[in-house]
Amino acid sequence: MPFDSFRIFSRVAALAALAVVAVTPVMAEPSPKKIGIIGAGKIGSTFGTLWVKAGYDVLFASRHPEELKPLVEQLGPKAHAGTPAEALAYGDAVFLAVPYKAYPEFGKENAAALKGKIVIDAGNATAARDGAELRDEVDKNGIGVTSQKYLPGARIARAFNAVNFKVFEKNAGRPEPRMAIPIAGDDPKAIETARTLVSDAGFDPVVVGELEAAKKFQMGQPGFGLELTTPELREKLGVKP
Ligand SMILES: NC(=O)c1ccc[n+]([C@@H]2O[C@H](COP(=O)([O-])OP(=O)(O)OC[C@H]3O[C@@H](n4cnc5c(N)ncnc54)[C@H](OP(=O)(O)O)[C@@H]3O)[C@@H](O)[C@H]2O)c1
Repeated sequence: MPFDSFRIFSRVAALAALAVVAVTPVMAEPSPKKIGIIGAGKIGSTFGTLWVKAGYDVLFASRHPEELKPLVEQLGPKAHAGTPAEALAYGDAVFLAVPYKAYPEFGKENAAALKGKIVIDAGNATAARDGAELRDEVDKNGIGVTSQKYLPGARIARAFNAVNFKVFEKNAGRPEPRMAIPIAGDDPKAIETARTLVSDAGFDPVVVGELEAAKKFQMGQPGFGLELTTPELREKLGVKP
């Protein structure tokens, strides 16, 4: 090969190698298509249903999976029922929607399976249901940091927390402008997963910050209970576009 042609060939080859390196991190972890819903109650069944309709395969879990038969039969072949451990094994990501008082025990019992797992954390802490001690801890340290303490090693994004499930149901897939859902997390892949799941459920994702920032939209804070569009929510929470 003449020297000039060789130089051009080398440059093209180097650029091609760079392009492969540039796209590899994105391709290495594909978007989750199988979701485990842990806690198939009001909020879990609401979003599990929306994701089945959006084309996801969903395993709904509770400690009494036999009670989930009517739900999964109604949703068809993309819906399944199982135990929380089965949902953790099944899901590329899991949606955690159990009473907050269950987190400490759930984290201990499933410690190995939670390591590295993407967890979309929908839980909230109330004194009446979850106990004053846990609610005090959440008020003091912030709910994102508290969830991470009880679910060590999990890649957590907080989302789907800040309004009642009936408000989510009413607004899902509404015409533009869509309702905005705040997200917070430390792990980029967990954030990206939450963004995709928010969009595929028919809402707009608004990333507020790291897990620490989840306190901005936790129960009792001004960012909780808002039914807003993206620009309105950004302004309320001080998030730059
Ligand atoms: N409801 C809302 O509008 C709303 C909105 C945003 C966030 N949230 C939060 O989402 C979470 C769930 O609320 P929800 O209203 O959906 O509750 P829910 O209707 O009472 O459902 C709770 C689900 O969790 C399961 N569960 C309870 N304890 C469990 C445990 N130790 N391990 C595994 N599964 C357990 C229950 O099934 P089994 O008892 O059969 O196991 C049930 O499927 C709470 O943290 C809540 O604050 C709720």
